[in-house]
Amino acid sequence: MSHLTVFLEHDAQRPELTTSDPALAAAHLAHVGVLFERLQPDRPLSPGADAEAVLAAYAAPVARLREARRFASVDVIRVTPEMPEAAALRGKFLEEHTHDEDEARLFVEGAGAFFIHTADRVIRVVCGAGDLLSVPAGAPHWFDMGIPPRFTAIRFFTRPDGWVAQPTGNPIAARFPQFAPKSCAASQAEAGLP
Ligand SMILES: [Fe+2]
Repeated sequence: MSHLTVFLEHDAQRPELTTSDPALAAAHLAHVGVLFERLQPDRPLSPGADAEAVLAAYAAPVARLREARRFASVDVIRVTPEMPEAAALRGKFLEEHTHDEDEARLFVEGAGAFFIHTADRVIRVVCGAGDLLSVPAGAPHWFDMGIPPRFTAIRFFTRPDGWVAQPTGNPIAARFPQFAPKSCAASQAEAGLP
């Protein structure tokens, strides 16, 4: 269900490009140093599977990525609307920020939207089950879990202290549409996309 939308930095209303073709999305993202792959689990994954089952289902691609990119550790994050802290968690990632390490996420359930801010554009990548995205260190971005938030993802870390963000102070994220999974599906349908 991955979906890529490119906006000019100063026009959050009229996308320059929109596609649901994973190969086209990967090629486009590669130009700005972002890794995108569509992966298949090694074994079937039942809904709501625990962290151990999630990591076992994707054992081979996770091992490959850890070796190739020297990630020291992985974990599994799951956010559902029923969690009391869901709104606070969503807010934590909504401001534009950077990291000293690559931010790599493999989605296994639900969906979420990354917004990557390049020199003059904003690229929104809606990731669903099987989508691997890695934002390079230093790249300004933000992440919207959606309204309501519902996703499970494997996170990769190179540092022992894990996820550390440096806010850029740029309020650009507030100008771009929030991620609402239903409205996103509707806009894809309007554009004639699968
Ligand atoms: Fe981040």
